Amino acid sequence: MLIAQITDTHVVARDSRAYRDQVDTNGMMTKAVDRLNRLDPRPDCVVITGDLCDHGTVTEYDELKRQLARLHLPFYLVIGNHDDRKTMLASLDYPHLADAWPFVQYTVEDMPVRIIALDSTSDDHHMGEFCEARRAWLEERLAEQPDRPTIVALHHPPFDCGITLMDAEGTGWAQGLIETLSRYPNIERVLCGHVHRSIQAVVGGRLATICPSTAHQVNLDLAADPSAQAFFEMEPPAFQLHRWKNGQMVTHTALVDRYREVFPISAEMLERMRSSTVRSRMMKKDLVF
Ligand SMILES: [Fe+2]
Ligand SMILES: [Fe+2]
Repeated sequence: MLIAQITDTHVVARDSRAYRDQVDTNGMMTKAVDRLNRLDPRPDCVVITGDLCDHGTVTEYDELKRQLARLHLPFYLVIGNHDDRKTMLASLDYPHLADAWPFVQYTVEDMPVRIIALDSTSDDHHMGEFCEARRAWLEERLAEQPDRPTIVALHHPPFDCGITLMDAEGTGWAQGLIETLSRYPNIERVLCGHVHRSIQAVVGGRLATICPSTAHQVNLDLAADPSAQAFFEMEPPAFQLHRWKNGQMVTHTALVDRYREVFPISAEMLERMRSSTVRSRMMKKDLVF
């Protein structure tokens, strides 16, 4: 089973650009959709972990619908802090969102790995939030199938990532969530977005991963100085693939753009690499490809 993840698409109204006209988030999402459509093997689904739109307006969700209509894979949407819960649900009539109220939380049951989508957003601020009602819902869902491999997807990562700008909110909001996660070893991944970089951490004994954005990234600044200038930068957009096989989840980060192949691995070398007996005896001098 293969799950693709994209995040922080920050779609804006059609024929416009985000961030004072600097970032063509719509064009970049189009490229990401094209890349997903070309993937071989084909993913079983795509999970999009929030900040779907930049301001959560009707016109932005119209553009998001137009973009998603080009995606030839099943997809599941997670809400982010740039989204608007009411407008999102009123604008998008996808079946997985049909009962997603008062929070955009739901499960996906028809694949070997179960997906649980969580709503970590607030009506009042951009920080993470996970109230007792949302936690109780999660507890009920996890208790239903405690032995089944499960992915939990939410927008805000429940850990400090070391980038001062993104850590300002702290993780106090996530303590109840982390406690719940810690009691379910069947949770194979906690998929997140929000930080616009590839970052991983173990939280409550579970591996939580942040997927890079399909658009702009947050600059890598691990300095502790809170007054340091934080900025977006145009590192190559990327996505992730989570592969479930033989009872193990393996995560790959890949760039949306393709790059020139520079040197083919020779058929002779490939044959030697594939041979386990040769591989076990392979010396460094043999690595001539
Ligand atoms: Fe974002
Ligand atoms: Fe965000």
